[in-house]
Amino acid sequence: MSPNVTLPDASTPLPMAKDLSELFVPSMRGQLKSAFKSVMGNPTLAMINMAGGVPHPSTFPIMQLRATVRSPSSPSAPLNRESTLELAKSSRSQSTESLDELLQYGDGCGIDSYCAFLRRYTQRVHRPRYADWGVIASCGNTDAIGKAVSLFCEPGDSILVDRWTFPGALSSLVSAKVLPAPVPMDGEGMIPEALDNICQTWSGSAPPRAVYLVPTGQNPTGTTMSLVRRKAIYAVAQKRNLAIIEDDPYYFLQLPPVPSPSISRRGAERSDQAQHLVPSLLSLDVDGRVIRLDSFSKILAPNLRCGWITAPTYILDKIQILNESTILQPSGLSQGLISKLLNDTWGFDGWEAHLRELRAVYTLRRNLFIQAVDKHLAGLVEYTVPTAGMFLWMKVNLGSAAADPTAMPRLLGSMKKCGVMMAPDMPFSSTGPSAALEPATDGTSERYLRAAFALVDIDMFEPALKRLAQAITSVSGARSATSCSPATSPDVVRSDTAHLDVNNSTF
Ligand SMILES: Cc1ncc(COP(=O)(O)O)c(C=O)c1O
Repeated sequence: MSPNVTLPDASTPLPMAKDLSELFVPSMRGQLKSAFKSVMGNPTLAMINMAGGVPHPSTFPIMQLRATVRSPSSPSAPLNRESTLELAKSSRSQSTESLDELLQYGDGCGIDSYCAFLRRYTQRVHRPRYADWGVIASCGNTDAIGKAVSLFCEPGDSILVDRWTFPGALSSLVSAKVLPAPVPMDGEGMIPEALDNICQTWSGSAPPRAVYLVPTGQNPTGTTMSLVRRKAIYAVAQKRNLAIIEDDPYYFLQLPPVPSPSISRRGAERSDQAQHLVPSLLSLDVDGRVIRLDSFSKILAPNLRCGWITAPTYILDKIQILNESTILQPSGLSQGLISKLLNDTWGFDGWEAHLRELRAVYTLRRNLFIQAVDKHLAGLVEYTVPTAGMFLWMKVNLGSAAADPTAMPRLLGSMKKCGVMMAPDMPFSSTGPSAALEPATDGTSERYLRAAFALVDIDMFEPALKRLAQAITSVSGARSATSCSPATSPDVVRSDTAHLDVNNSTF
């Protein structure tokens, strides 16, 4: 936590969140009741409860779950150790529920011990500034975005979003028939003055009631908002009475500046010890207008499909109802495993050591990738060094071909031929895919590629960028282009993970 943020005095009781329910769409207003609570009420122990279609746990054949996990290294145990986690059928294992409880139907909030850890951790990291906040389990941020948006937008409504943004969020908007209202960005993400100006000059029927943004390691631009920028965005949200959907899966992957002049392969490993994380929008939120979405996808494993939402409890009540009509809650096995790992095995210290190790991994990757970009793509791309996340957003210099609408499709074709794949700008455009295929209307004809430096072998960075250089020059004609064919190219070394990248549908 940066010392610049003024936190309330611990001895002063925190205020309650402001009631922003006037921002809800009509169908979300009023006292909606959880399906569970309205059917079951609050059963007392004296009641013989025959209300639910609930299987008897003796029929669950999973008797024990045992997992071996690698523990992060620590000063007292510098080498990675392994620990065994065990969940038993019918008895709790320290703080974590029994398998019978984890595998049974539950409500739309999530497993108690999972949520309890996340509540304590949120308090420790973000220190919310109002009293009635809580956390609820989510199936990851993609699902949570759709739910958060549906509180504030119905078909035909608009929501403010970054000019370039996460395609999963854009798909959610398309399926909900909600229109993205793009807000210009700079090297720190969404520009507060532009956000304010769009609200000021709004001419559509209903002014937007919410803004969706990714403040840290933004996807695709890699931008991270400084504290000053976060405060300015928050001030506009207050002035325009906007709810903020803070989608922040890369929060814990904040990276230190690139060391100069030379970068060693080992140099990043110890750079994190003193790194402060930029405070989240949640930690600046005095009103209770931030719905913060966190995910384990980038910091444990994506297909655990687990995350958590932090917001005022009256907002979480609505999300609980939405959960109960869709996912109910993430898999109890995933939640139980995470709970056991975080509550009983790693604790805060181990979890934070794990996050530090991740930051060291991504710092090293980012540094080496930037070094390779500078070596092979000088003059062909421009970029801002990302200080969080896993993406480098490169403005491609297409030279005299830039104004040609076929240049980008030709570049993609050429990249394919050269045997390198990076994401084109089009799927990230909140101005609409067709507009993104055409030259920019401001006459600059800027085109971008997003490179993810998270997955491929570090040894593949240089071959990938050599191929990209060949592909760009073959379209722009900037240098004498050499034709490329990956099958015969001497730099082709097959990475164990290369096949994953090409087929991965996740942006
Ligand atoms: C900004 C952003 N939000 C959400 C997600 C998806 O997160 P999850 O796996 O938790 O659904 C991603 C993944 O790429 C992302 O970049």
